[in-house]
Amino acid sequence: MSTPHIDAPEGAFAPTVLFPGDPLRAQHIAQRFLADAVLVTSARNMFGYTGDYRGQRISVMGSGMGIASSSIYATELIRHYGVKRIVRVGTCGAVSDDLDLGDLVLALSASTDSNVNRLRFAGMDFAAGASYRLLRDVADQAERARVAVHVGNVFSTDLFYSPNPNMADTLAAMGILAVEMEAAGLYGLAAEFGAQALAVLTVSDHLRHDAHMDVRQRQTGVDAMVELTLDALCA
Ligand code: HPA
Repeated sequence: MSTPHIDAPEGAFAPTVLFPGDPLRAQHIAQRFLADAVLVTSARNMFGYTGDYRGQRISVMGSGMGIASSSIYATELIRHYGVKRIVRVGTCGAVSDDLDLGDLVLALSASTDSNVNRLRFAGMDFAAGASYRLLRDVADQAERARVAVHVGNVFSTDLFYSPNPNMADTLAAMGILAVEMEAAGLYGLAAEFGAQALAVLTVSDHLRHDAHMDVRQRQTGVDAMVELTLDALCA
């Protein structure tokens, strides 16, 4: 049976799902990295695929942008399809001076301006943290592959276009590495449902240096991040 937003049969997803924001990136990842990839859902053009990487069954599905969209898909994947591990692979806008375009960030924790974790935690502040196991696996793989990673706190915002002109400086002053739009929701949801989650991010923009990757740089950067993540998950 399908869910309100995923039209796949039961058992269509592997226990581990890569979770890019863009459904066309999910399609690209499936075609480029997975053997025998099968399209398992396309409701609302939010494509999901299941295939093999190094002999291990793995799925990839678009999350859409923001906590609202990604939470719908992640909840249905975990509750209905038995998914155990969700790894967001996405881009972020750096605020730390230590980061450059193309750098990799592992979101150890995710601060947020969203209210979702208070909604699920009786109004209290939940410390949204990554799965240590997943974080460790990707960090270890990065070390083996001699790829530098930044591990720390990111900020998951509900507003891509912030009305606050000082926002990036405020975040940087508190040691935030970068801004994105999903991790805090995903981490809270994983806690709620007993799953594991991690966000692996490529710096596509620098919000305090007014620097931006072009389309080709984004594609290359994201492919390298996806390969590293798949190697870590399927080691
Ligand atoms: N803000 C939020 N999310 C992002 C950004 C940004 O500037 N860049 C890439 N993802």
